[in-house]
Amino acid sequence: MSERTDLQGRHIVLGLTGGIACYKSAELVRLLTKAGATVQVVMTEAAEAFITAVTMQALSGRPVVTSQWDAREPNNMAHINLGREADAILIAPASADFMAKLATGRADELLSLMCLARPRERCPLLIAPAMNREMWSHPATLRNVATLRADGATLLGPGHGDQACGETGDGRMLEAQELCDDLVAFFQPKLLAGRKLLITAGPTFEAIDPVRGITNHSSGKMGFALARAAQEAGAEVTLVAGPVHLPTPRGVRRLDVMSAQQMFDAVVPVAPQHEVFIATAAVADWRPASLSAHKIKKEGKKVAPTFELTENPDILAAVAALPDAPYCVGFAAESENLLAHARAKLLRKRIPLIIGNLGPATFGRDDNSLLVVDAQTEHALPADGRATDKLTLARILMQELATRLAAR
Ligand code: C5P
Repeated sequence: MSERTDLQGRHIVLGLTGGIACYKSAELVRLLTKAGATVQVVMTEAAEAFITAVTMQALSGRPVVTSQWDAREPNNMAHINLGREADAILIAPASADFMAKLATGRADELLSLMCLARPRERCPLLIAPAMNREMWSHPATLRNVATLRADGATLLGPGHGDQACGETGDGRMLEAQELCDDLVAFFQPKLLAGRKLLITAGPTFEAIDPVRGITNHSSGKMGFALARAAQEAGAEVTLVAGPVHLPTPRGVRRLDVMSAQQMFDAVVPVAPQHEVFIATAAVADWRPASLSAHKIKKEGKKVAPTFELTENPDILAAVAALPDAPYCVGFAAESENLLAHARAKLLRKRIPLIIGNLGPATFGRDDNSLLVVDAQTEHALPADGRATDKLTLARILMQELATRLAAR
């Protein structure tokens, strides 16, 4: 997959405070710079007890700033300059003590001074807490979190799991990749804020016997990219996935199913609670009429077994026919005559929008090119028809969707 540069042109100030999670911040710098950002690291004295400024300088390619008395700044005002240059300040790890300091507006060292002095309307503050579970759940910390949120800060995490102290619970700093993904999402325009989207993705698996079944080559990548793009755009997303090996996009609610019938049962009852339904799943049209309770054995058979097939329910058509149907978007994977087939499907399923693509050219791939078809118009996405990575396509589709929803 081509390297993504979602943070191209962004300048991030990464603040480290005292916590064992500082080791993850080294990886975080690598991921942020790989994504195109420039990163200026600022460390408190306590952070330097956990990781050296040498490491962070080597990874960020910039001298680390640790003191408000750093004479390298010509005007000697590092706390002012750093925040004026940044597109965002991310504190990772943020210790309980540092959050208490921010919540009360104290500024007795460079990092807190810089947070207090930042231009709030253009330099957002993101905080990734990292602490023991008792510290995280302490009323004083929770009070500080509420204050920080009220003051406009965005909390990333914390995560749940094993802690360095040997205990298990809430308070772990998110993993570097999760923080990087959250930062990328933070910068996406919130075009679908508050909207509820339901998305199907992947193939279905129609069992023949306990070990065999009928499935297809759909990888689920387009549907998962759409779920991620919708979540990044501020939507509340439910993703109903057939059997695929893909990580759940952050912040997305995922329900796993196997068969078309299970997908139907998971989708149709909840569809009216959503404003949009996007059917990207490659649902099997037929399933074996009967399921063998035991593995069908080869031994003793002179002729190969035959299977009677029965039709699966059409999930998209069923949702579109509901009296309180959401706005329905279908996908058409064809091998030829894309426009004609897509438009026929639009009419047959009585949906307002269908996205056409060439099945053999998209299944399993990271990139694709689409044809957006409604009752009157059609256009290629991207406009030049060149294959583009699925997340980029998904983000453009979300813009298109937001415009169509606003025009309804
Ligand atoms: O009917 P066909 O498979 O050609 O249409 C494709 C579109 O319909 C896709 O959006 C697919 O997710 C959806 N579909 C469905 N349930 C089916 C078959 C297709 O939701 N049983």
